[in-house]
Amino acid sequence: MAKSKSSKGWLKEHFDDQYVKMSQQDGVRSRAVYKLIEIDQKDQLIKPQMQIVDLGAAPGGWSEYVAKKLSKQGRIVATDILEMDYLDGVEFIQGDFRERVSA
Ligand SMILES: C[S@@+](CC[C@H](N)C(=O)[O-])C[C@H]1O[C@@H](n2cnc3c(N)ncnc32)[C@H](O)[C@@H]1O
Repeated sequence: MAKSKSSKGWLKEHFDDQYVKMSQQDGVRSRAVYKLIEIDQKDQLIKPQMQIVDLGAAPGGWSEYVAKKLSKQGRIVATDILEMDYLDGVEFIQGDFRERVSA
């Protein structure tokens, strides 16, 4: 009972969130992208030719932003335990990034 109430509360908070609303309007994958944009604008973090690994990438807001910014001048590898929808210019590996990959 309490769990269902708190889940409802979380959902309400999530959909009332201004960044969630913005991400829906902008058609981007997640609200997380606005934090990366803020850091990138401040510190010029993402540069052409970079090789970037996005750990815990789903649903893909950061990878989506980086892929647009690099526009195939560089390499992006995204990983997540969860599935992630295809993104042009992003190599996706599904799995736990703490585990060794067997050859
Ligand atoms: C807050 S979400 C990331 C949002 C993403 N940065 C974006 O811009 O859309 C965190 C993600 O990390 C993933 N994750 C957490 N631990 C992980 C692990 N050990 N290996 C792979 N993925 C992991 C979760 O599955 C989840 O999708």
